[in-house]
Amino acid sequence: MTARSPDGPTQLHGDLHCRSGGPFAGPPGAGRHARPKDYAKTLLVNERGDPLRAAQLLPQTNYVFHYPFEATPVFLLDLGKPAAPQALSTESKDAYNWPGGVGRNRSIVAFSAICAHQLVYPTKDVSFISFRKTRAQKGVHDNVIHCCAEHSQYDPAKGARVLSGPARQPLCAVLLQHDAKADTLTAYATLGGELFDAFFRKYEMKLSLEVGAKAKHAVSGQAVVRELEKFCRNSVQC
Ligand code: FES
Repeated sequence: MTARSPDGPTQLHGDLHCRSGGPFAGPPGAGRHARPKDYAKTLLVNERGDPLRAAQLLPQTNYVFHYPFEATPVFLLDLGKPAAPQALSTESKDAYNWPGGVGRNRSIVAFSAICAHQLVYPTKDVSFISFRKTRAQKGVHDNVIHCCAEHSQYDPAKGARVLSGPARQPLCAVLLQHDAKADTLTAYATLGGELFDAFFRKYEMKLSLEVGAKAKHAVSGQAVVRELEKFCRNSVQC
């Protein structure tokens, strides 16, 4: 879908922005559907604070930013080929339609970097989860997000659906808006199985040390995008 913004045409993720909120009950007999959950519109910027241009993203390279909270990491990927919409569902059987990639080639996607199995996530010190251009030792495919903890593997070209391993639902999607004129990206919502409450419960002490008192603060305004290799000292390859 293309909408007109003051800055020019803006590519939105499908027509998903109509309503916010979590799962809702559909008509009797229909399954439950998950809608996007709106958060503050947040412009993605580079480490200098300048708006990140989508064209500057290196294909098949791990980038990380934090959204919708200061302590919740997100993978940003240019897959190098278009990613088509997918029908998916959460572990609790809430169906949702992931709208596919954005950008000129519809190849740019973003997913929570918190593993849907036991919430492993990338920190500045170490990351056991990342996108792999080539198959990991226990991999099932090239081009998957692989968690080395118990080898859950997610296909980012298919809405991060689970290909293998113990995870019971796709990684939660982060929805992006692409401004075609400025070639900028803005995060505005999540879609799918959010695990933020469980994440904050599990890592409360760790996050307070890593991120400080602002760990649970909502991100707004802008979020800095870094290559995983620069964000994290040790990206584990299993
Ligand atoms: S925490 Fe990722 S597979 Fe178990």
